[in-house]
Amino acid sequence: MQGGSPPRHDGLPGWPGRQTGVASEDPQGTILETEGLTKEFRGFVAVSDVALKVRRGTIHGLIGPNGAGKTTCFNLLTKFLPPTRGTIRYDGRDITNMKPAEVARLGLVRSFQISAVFPHLTVLENVRVALQRARGGSFDFWRSETALKGFEPRAMELLEDVGLTAYARHTAGELPYGRKRALEIATTLALEPRMMLLDEPTAGMTHEDVGRIMALVQRVAKGRTVLLVEHNLTVVSGLCDMITVLTRGRVLAEGTYAEVSRNEEVKAAYLGTDPALQAEAPHG
Ligand SMILES: Nc1ncnc2c1ncn2[C@@H]1O[C@H](COP(=O)(O)OP(=O)(O)OP(=O)(O)O)[C@@H](O)[C@H]1O
Ligand SMILES: [Mg+2]
Repeated sequence: MQGGSPPRHDGLPGWPGRQTGVASEDPQGTILETEGLTKEFRGFVAVSDVALKVRRGTIHGLIGPNGAGKTTCFNLLTKFLPPTRGTIRYDGRDITNMKPAEVARLGLVRSFQISAVFPHLTVLENVRVALQRARGGSFDFWRSETALKGFEPRAMELLEDVGLTAYARHTAGELPYGRKRALEIATTLALEPRMMLLDEPTAGMTHEDVGRIMALVQRVAKGRTVLLVEHNLTVVSGLCDMITVLTRGRVLAEGTYAEVSRNEEVKAAYLGTDPALQAEAPHG
């Protein structure tokens, strides 16, 4: 039988600190590293010779103007797109030629990658289904009701982690926008990612929701690594330990927020599109 009680995990706040995993062969604690990563679309170079290094246990920001290649980078890292050139190493392995499901199994997961939210199911059911899928379960809703019940305690823990306990019995479709993103994060957490990729988690949110998602990202980053694409520089400055700035597919600068925001080339790249980068953590 599929079900029984899934093993219990500590909620995120109680997670063991940094996970070291298999690859601690890297003395600097790099979890993800690309070399010469390049993606061309019919001659147009969307990602060009990118060398990205993400340290284990950090929140790493990937920022840059529209069309800089951030989402394409995510698609390359999660194997949704094959690179034209270059290599990707994750956790000590060359994953350049792996399939999305394989890298997801290794714990490199993009939010909304596998676990779409089903609007007609309740919030709790969505997370239960995500947990079942994470364990390789089928979508056989007929037989699996009992099995799904077994995932309920863990599902409730995940809902608590993302602040959705009160919404457990609500239909996912009726959630306000910001809460929907939180549910998406919960379904991603069901996969037990060791490294999470979040593409603009605060896009289109109200000020209040932005604050909530920031707190949530900080919480889920405990015990794992987060790579974050984000346009809101208040969020970037508030969350990111390290930042890589992309423009036109290339790495323009790398460093802490304080470092990259002082960089003249970065300022120029942002000038006109987001002068906020030159100021101290302005409103997004
Ligand atoms: N499948 C594709 N075919 C052709 N061109 C593409 C494809 N995907 C992306 N591009 C182009 O590659 C460039 C980078 O796009 P990408 O979506 O990665 O940028 P981004 O940094 O995520 O931008 P945004 O901040 O607007 O989300 C853009 O010029 C885009 O038009
Ligand atoms: Mg994008």
